[in-house]
Amino acid sequence: MNADMRTNPDEHSIATVCGAGGVTLAARFPRDFVWGVATSAYQIEGAAHEDGRGDSIWDEFCRRPGAIRDGSSGECACDHYHRSAEDIALMADLGVTAYRFSIAWPRVRPLGAGDWNEKGFDFYDRLLDRLLERGIAPYLTLYHWDLPQALQEGGGWLNRSTVDRFAEYAAEVARRFGSRAASIATHNEPWVVAILGHEAGIFAPGLRSRKSAMQVAHHLLLSHGVALQAMRAQGCAAPLGITLNQAPIHAATQSPADLARARLDDGLTIRWYMDALLRGRYPEDVLAFLGEDAPEVAHGDMETIRQPLDFIGINYYTRNVSGSGAPLDPVAPGREVTDMGWEVFPAGLTELLLRLKADYPLPPLYITENGAAYRDCLVDGRVEDDDRISYLRRHITALADALDAGVDVRGYFVWSLLDNFEWADGYAKRFGLVYVDYATQRRTLKDSALWYQALCCGARASMPGASRVAAGVHHE
Ligand code: FCB
Repeated sequence: MNADMRTNPDEHSIATVCGAGGVTLAARFPRDFVWGVATSAYQIEGAAHEDGRGDSIWDEFCRRPGAIRDGSSGECACDHYHRSAEDIALMADLGVTAYRFSIAWPRVRPLGAGDWNEKGFDFYDRLLDRLLERGIAPYLTLYHWDLPQALQEGGGWLNRSTVDRFAEYAAEVARRFGSRAASIATHNEPWVVAILGHEAGIFAPGLRSRKSAMQVAHHLLLSHGVALQAMRAQGCAAPLGITLNQAPIHAATQSPADLARARLDDGLTIRWYMDALLRGRYPEDVLAFLGEDAPEVAHGDMETIRQPLDFIGINYYTRNVSGSGAPLDPVAPGREVTDMGWEVFPAGLTELLLRLKADYPLPPLYITENGAAYRDCLVDGRVEDDDRISYLRRHITALADALDAGVDVRGYFVWSLLDNFEWADGYAKRFGLVYVDYATQRRTLKDSALWYQALCCGARASMPGASRVAAGVHHE
């Protein structure tokens, strides 16, 4: 790796930045626990029009005046398409054993139907090989929100035929990459796609209809089920699952109205997805609330959705507080928040995991995203992001508490490896362990990266036969 991409090890080495904290924390986890970092295609790849990639709904959405806070797009992003070797070297330097990333559907099938794009597949093919060469396990996601625009023009996720296109795409990826992937997840956060994209209209494709949103939510879950069937029919060896955004919902007060609203929001965000995937039904109270807005569900759909799952990925950032009079999510004054305005609430992770274990017949879980945006500043080659270290330390501690209480969690992925395109917030919000100077594309490890490196290093040191060198960490 390029020496200037790194912070100066003499000034703030693992020991000075982290003490033994990260190492001690790693010791609370099983030896084979997976420590990783996560990204998604549209947020980092750039090269939006290269090598035959088709437009996605996010390319289109970003062109709408006012859609993205800073007027930006994923056109260049972190230029990862051209810098993947360098970015894999960064991961190896961090000592992570796993990388969660998504495939851009319009890169491998530009129109979402019809011809496959070999150059697009070549990019992921090389990525997989390079990761495996460095001992980093690839955790694939098929859909992290970048639907081919051509499919949107035919109705997108509102059109039931998109379910079949998705299954074709899943089967082709499984055929090519199934033997090299550590896992394949169908969707990332279907709630966000359905609700923020089709009801709130603040994410692509920017529609505003509850009825459409709930139909989309159903089609996304259905496409998950059909895709799992299609991948298994291929004989896909990789564990298959889905990633959900999940947060405990707390009532703003104990008033009956607030408690009722919190229960409904719990139904809309947690039970809608978990009940469908694990019990093959939608919650009655939510269906009653939706009334005319409830989705059309064809005979057999719910059994299709309830496929055996090898894992569920949980993305956890904060809790939600809901009340009858207020919109979902108000954060009380004086509470600690990140640069997203999201409350820092680590205990919610333990609470959520214990609740899911109590209520559902769960497969193994992974925390597929957790992390925080802060206003990072690069000063003299260093980013002192103590607030992010504190966020990560407290959440990983909360996760260890859940493991101690018997929840089967197999891995944890920091969102994100790199600062990147944060959807409607553009480049204003920095979630990375690695700082990206977008003008030069220069990467710099933040202090939090060194902290996580120490944790990963501690985890590896506890593995039989491991050494610091094996972890790829060599602070000369
Ligand atoms: C999640 C998304 C991810 C990123 C983080 C901050 O909802 O899955 O792409 O934007 O939030």
